[in-house]
Amino acid sequence: MVAGKVAFVTGAGSGIGREVCRILAKQGAKVIAADRNLENATNTITSLNDPGHLALNVEVSNEQSIQQAFKSAINKYLTPPTIIVNSAGITRDQFILKLSNEDFAKVLDVNLKGTFYVIQTAVKEIVNANIGIGSSIVNVSSIIGKTGNMGQANYAASKAGVIALTQTASLEFGQFGIRVNAVLPGFIETPMTETVPDNVKQLFIQKIPLHRMGKPEEVAEVITFLASSKSSYINGASIEVTGGLH
Ligand SMILES: NC(=O)c1ccc[n+]([C@@H]2O[C@H](COP(=O)([O-])OP(=O)(O)OC[C@H]3O[C@@H](n4cnc5c(N)ncnc54)[C@H](O)[C@@H]3O)[C@@H](O)[C@H]2O)c1
Repeated sequence: MVAGKVAFVTGAGSGIGREVCRILAKQGAKVIAADRNLENATNTITSLNDPGHLALNVEVSNEQSIQQAFKSAINKYLTPPTIIVNSAGITRDQFILKLSNEDFAKVLDVNLKGTFYVIQTAVKEIVNANIGIGSSIVNVSSIIGKTGNMGQANYAASKAGVIALTQTASLEFGQFGIRVNAVLPGFIETPMTETVPDNVKQLFIQKIPLHRMGKPEEVAEVITFLASSKSSYINGASIEVTGGLH
């Protein structure tokens, strides 16, 4: 249900984004792996073993970088991507009383503004090409955007913003046939959570009804479903992928 479509995936050099590329490619999509780390994005594409895919160096907090990436994509595929997955994200954890303006702004710039830039650029191209119907945007938020988390004010605010942005985008783009949804992962085994100390990990795991962390492919499967026409009447939704943690 994604076969033959062109997909643009940010954060594709690692973790959840990389798994999304793998599953979309397996299901027949042409995948553009966009990441600020080109070497990692290239490794993602190389592992797919098909010259039809593309790796691009993209900084999502820079509008020009995104516009340039879409130009390159359209050059190669002669159509804008109609599957957009916003998985690029960062953390800069600190308690509020010690959190610097810089770390607050940086997380908002990448996680929220970056998602906005990608959505805006993609939808302009999709609407210009008149190929809205069947297009799907999936934004990676976090359960933390709903619950908050000590030491993650910047991250929680950015991810709550992604949920609100998703809902608003779904209201504005329904007229073009473009669906916009979010996933809210819980505690997932990726490089992002590798640095969490073991005792903190154990505390989290005890609170998860399934008593384990999630795997990146378990989130990527849901993202691929939302990207595909199998979810053709899901729009403006935020789907939790947390093993039952709320
Ligand atoms: N791992 C978790 O437990 C978890 C939980 C909830 C939500 N998330 C979200 O899932 C998404 C993917 O996270 P992950 O766990 O795969 O992390 P990850 O660190 O493994 O991968 C993130 C990727 O994004 C890229 N990236 C970061 N900033 C970028 C920028 N400015 N421009 C372009 N690329 C950039 C990185 O280079 C990296 O390849 C993130 O948005 C994250 O906030 C993760």
